[in-house]
Amino acid sequence: MFISNKEISDVLVVGGGVIGMSIARALKKNGAGEVTVLDSGRLGQEASSAAAGMLTAQADAEKRDDLFDLCYEGRGLYEGFAQELKAETGIDIELETSGTLSVSFNKHDSRRLDNIYSWQNAAGLPVQKLDTRELLELEPRLSSEVKGGLFFPRDVQVENRLLVKALAASLKQLGVRIVENTPVTSLLVENGKIAGVETPVGNFSAPIIVLAAGAWSSLIPLGGPGETERNRSLSLDVIPVRGQMISFQPGKRLFTRVIMSLTGYLVPRADNRLLAGATVEKAGFDKNVTTSGLESLSRAAFEIAPELKKIEISEKWAGLRPCAADMLPVIGQYDNIGGLYVATGHYRNGILLAPITAHMLLAQITDGQNSKFSTLLRPGRFTQAVSV
Ligand code: FAD
Ligand code: GLY
Repeated sequence: MFISNKEISDVLVVGGGVIGMSIARALKKNGAGEVTVLDSGRLGQEASSAAAGMLTAQADAEKRDDLFDLCYEGRGLYEGFAQELKAETGIDIELETSGTLSVSFNKHDSRRLDNIYSWQNAAGLPVQKLDTRELLELEPRLSSEVKGGLFFPRDVQVENRLLVKALAASLKQLGVRIVENTPVTSLLVENGKIAGVETPVGNFSAPIIVLAAGAWSSLIPLGGPGETERNRSLSLDVIPVRGQMISFQPGKRLFTRVIMSLTGYLVPRADNRLLAGATVEKAGFDKNVTTSGLESLSRAAFEIAPELKKIEISEKWAGLRPCAADMLPVIGQYDNIGGLYVATGHYRNGILLAPITAHMLLAQITDGQNSKFSTLLRPGRFTQAVSV
């Protein structure tokens, strides 16, 4: 064996965001034996903490497609997921069930909402069309310039910072080994099979590895004993897409539910904070908040709620969404490298899709079972998989 083992596990999960932690938890709960999560920083502190926590399967769906089906099914798992986490850890992830409003401020946006209403209503999905008066009755602090909107009663939200806390607590209770501040520098392959990972503090070996390193997933090269393994990378095509966010602390709750417009969204939290998001930018791995980002976020927030102009921004931050070339998640076994699984590319829906991703990978790893989404989301879909 070429690896001088530091630790031996049955499963190693690379990356402890919501995706990696949800998978590690599902595996451990279902008898996977020794499960280790390695993270280059601290658990859950990247995109998973930066997110807005919206579980908006319907409000974002312009048409019925595969992503809609995945998100819709994923949303259906959340109530059980939240209840289980509460029972396991005592942490309430604040699954708020007051629904989501999508609002329009001009004819173009209204036409877009009409299209969404038409297909979802015809499909028998819960959605209501509201006029200006009805919207202002529901949310009196909404701008009186609002032209119309849709109400999605089943599109809800969670406090994602509590979600990462709950997942980390669950892993600790289950006995999952957590190794923080330890970047994986390569994935070690031997005779066409995964054998372990390399880190600055030594190698970790395991016959099964789940790569869930979010926006950084494409950066980790392959390594191993032979020339063919070294200095090659996986064909994943996942890039970072920055999202900047701000929040206000008005001292009281201004809105009851999530409100989305074509240019931004407002998310009211139980502690009265009001989050406003988000930019969508290709800026490499830069997580800075920018002047132009703040301007566009403020503009979008003020359009929905003009009174925010009088309230100071209390927090600002940015995170990197993992985005694959076709903007769909990348979930499943990696072609040609036995024992290597991938779960990344969740882009704008990683919080929503964490439980269903864990569900799908658990079935694949433990029973070799594919779901109806497996072909669509397979890691090998991009280019020729690296053959070793
Ligand atoms: P991350 O949370 O980024 O975790 C990846 C982990 O891998 C990190 O902890 C990192 O330290 C670790 N890592 C990286 N490289 C290595 C390495 N070499 N070795 C070891 N560890 C490594 N989704 C929703 O569903 N609803 C929303 O409302 C929503 N809003 C969003 C708003 C913003 C502003 C942003 C930025 C994202 C939003 N998202 C939302 C998307 C969601 O946050 C992401 O899709 C999701 O968090 C991705 O989870 P992840 O675990 O794959 O990535
Ligand atoms: N899903 C919200 C965002 O990505 O900004």
